[in-house]
Amino acid sequence: MREEDLEAVLEIESASFSRPWTRRHFSDELASPFGYPVVAVMPDGSVAGYLCMKQVLDEAEILDVAVSVSLRGRGVGRLLVETALAAARGRGGTVVSLEVRVGNREAIALYERLGFHEMGRRRQYYENGEDAILMEYTG
Ligand SMILES: CC(C)(COP(=O)(O)OP(=O)(O)OC[C@H]1O[C@@H](n2cnc3c(N)ncnc32)[C@H](O)[C@@H]1OP(=O)(O)O)[C@@H](O)C(=O)NCCC(=O)NCCS
Repeated sequence: MREEDLEAVLEIESASFSRPWTRRHFSDELASPFGYPVVAVMPDGSVAGYLCMKQVLDEAEILDVAVSVSLRGRGVGRLLVETALAAARGRGGTVVSLEVRVGNREAIALYERLGFHEMGRRRQYYENGEDAILMEYTG
């Protein structure tokens, strides 16, 4: 991900989340030495989706991942998460964690397919009272 991708990233972000990240969130990820912000691009160079991960020593956390609404269900999300898992491994990561809304069945199905397991829940974690599921991948 580069600064010039942020217009497209912010458009996908606001179409995907009720409390979207701001430009500042993404700029911070671009500047962070612990950050791993990536985009998936279409053959024409347009942004199809993106993922932000942070890694400190052997622990990585996926913070944000989304795919353009019109391009979902074609494997872009899987590609992004697989790329992040490989990157974490390549940097000495042994565990990758994330949080997901209990009602987000598409995302949970994706993470389970790729080997993530539920490790716990945070009750009423989100603004609408929804629980968060904590998931972990240990390769
Ligand atoms: C979650 C998200 C990133 C998935 O991206 P995607 O490109 O549509 O996912 P993929 O096409 O790579 O699908 C991969 C797997 O996800 C699951 N999946 C994707 N869409 C699904 C759907 N509509 N119903 C059920 N499972 C689905 C399947 O397990 C699929 O595996 P398969 O390809 O072997 O069938 C996308 O739906 C999205 O941007 N959602 C809004 C943002 C969001 O919720 N992000 C996650 C926050 S934790």
